Amino acid sequence: MRTQVGIVGAGPAGLMLSHLLHLQGIESVVLEARSRAYVEQRVRAGVLEQATVELLRDTGLAERLDREALIHHGIELRFDGKGHRIALTDLSGRSIWIYGQQEVVKDMIVARLDSGGTIHFEVEDVRISGVDSTAPTIRFRANGAEEDLTCDVVAGCDGFHGVSRDAIPAGMLHEYHREFPFAWLGILAAVAPSTDELIYAYHDRGFALHSLRSPEISRLYIQVPPDEDIRAWPDDRIWEELRARLASDDGWTLADGPVVEKGIAAMRSFVVEPMQHGRLFLAGDAAHIVPATGAKGLNLAIHDVHVLANALASWYGTGDTEQMDRYSERCLRRVWRVQEFSSSMSSMLHRLPDDDGSVGRLQRAQLEYVCSSVAAATGLAENYVGLPYD
Ligand code: APR
Ligand code: PHB
Repeated sequence: MRTQVGIVGAGPAGLMLSHLLHLQGIESVVLEARSRAYVEQRVRAGVLEQATVELLRDTGLAERLDREALIHHGIELRFDGKGHRIALTDLSGRSIWIYGQQEVVKDMIVARLDSGGTIHFEVEDVRISGVDSTAPTIRFRANGAEEDLTCDVVAGCDGFHGVSRDAIPAGMLHEYHREFPFAWLGILAAVAPSTDELIYAYHDRGFALHSLRSPEISRLYIQVPPDEDIRAWPDDRIWEELRARLASDDGWTLADGPVVEKGIAAMRSFVVEPMQHGRLFLAGDAAHIVPATGAKGLNLAIHDVHVLANALASWYGTGDTEQMDRYSERCLRRVWRVQEFSSSMSSMLHRLPDDDGSVGRLQRAQLEYVCSSVAAATGLAENYVGLPYD
C-alpha cells in the first residue's frame, strides 16, 4: 500500500489532519488501534475555543455542532461560598462552545468516510521506520495480516501513549514532563446541569468543577490524590463531595442523578521538542499534554494539524520545505502559551497536599485579583477563549 500521508491515530488530531489534507487534494490513510465504537464513545473534555469552532465551520464540519453545541459567554469562579462571573465574551470579544470531544470525533469520522477517506480501525502492532528517508513506512497488522504502508510523510497523532514518538532516534528529542500532585475524578451524569455556565470551585476540601454536555447531561469533576482508587468513590460519596465543594451561600443547590460514566485522570504537563524529525511529524497529545484545568487538549491538537496541513500543502504545491521546517516552532509557541495558562489555572485552583498554608494564601490572593481587576480578568478570559490563530 502507498499513500501520501500516513496518519497514526484517529483522535481529533489524526482525523482533522486527514480531513484538512483531503480539502487540499492530498491523500492520507488513518490507522487506529481501537474500534470505531470505542473512539466515538471515549469521554474527554468538551470545551471548544472560538478558533477551533471557526476552523470546523470553515472546513464543513460544524453542521451538527451549530445545531447542538451550547455557546457560552462566561464562567464562574466560586470560593468562600460566593460566585464571581468572568464575562469571557464582554472581556475578550470571543466565546467558547460546549460540545463533547467524542461528538467532534463522530462528525469527523462521518466526514472522512463520506468523502471516500480511508480509516483502518483495530489495527495492531504499528511500527514506523525510515523516518530519515524520503519514503517512511508504517507496518501494522490488520485482520491478522501483516501490511506495509509506504508514505511521503508520517503524522504521529497517536496520543500520549502512542508509538510514534519512539520512532524518533534516541537523543533527538527533549522531553519536558511534570506530574501534578493531584488527579481528577470525573463523572458524566444523566441530570440537567445545575448551572448555565461552568463553575470552577476553590475549596478547602479540594477543587471541583461543574461542567455540562447538554441540557440533560452534566459533567462534574473533583480533585483527588493522584493514586486514588476509583473503587473508593461510590456515587453517593462523589455527590456528597461535590455538594460540599460547590456549596454556595445564596441558596443554590446541586441536583444529582444517575452516574453514567466515571473515571480518574492524571494531571500532567508534557512537551516534546522538536515536534518533528525527518519525515515524521508529531501532533496533538503525542507531542504535548496540558493539565485539564483549561480544557485545552483538543484545541491545541486542532491547531497543530491546521499548521501541519498548510505546511504539507505548501510543500506538495511548490516543493518548498520552508513551512514544514517551521512546523515545530510555530506549534510550540502556542503550546507553551497554553501550558503556562493551564498550569497557572491549575495552580490557582487545586489544594496541595503539603501546603503549610502559604500556597493557600497565594491562591486566594490570585483569585481575589482576577475577580476584582478587569485587567486580570481580561487576561484569564483571553486565554480561556483561546488566542486567534496567526
Ligand atoms: N496505533 C494506532 N493508534 C493508536 C496507537 C497505536 N499504536 N496508540 C494510540 N492510538 C490511538 C488512540 O486509540 C487514539 O484514538 O491514537 C488516538 C489518539 O487520540 P487522542 O488520545 O484523542 O489524541 P489527539 O488526537 O492528539 O487529541 C487531543 O486532547 O483533550 C485532549 O486527550 C484529549 O484526546 C484529546 C487530545
Ligand atoms: C469538561 O466539560 O469536560 C471540561 C470543562 C472544563 C474544563 C475541563 C473539562 O476546564
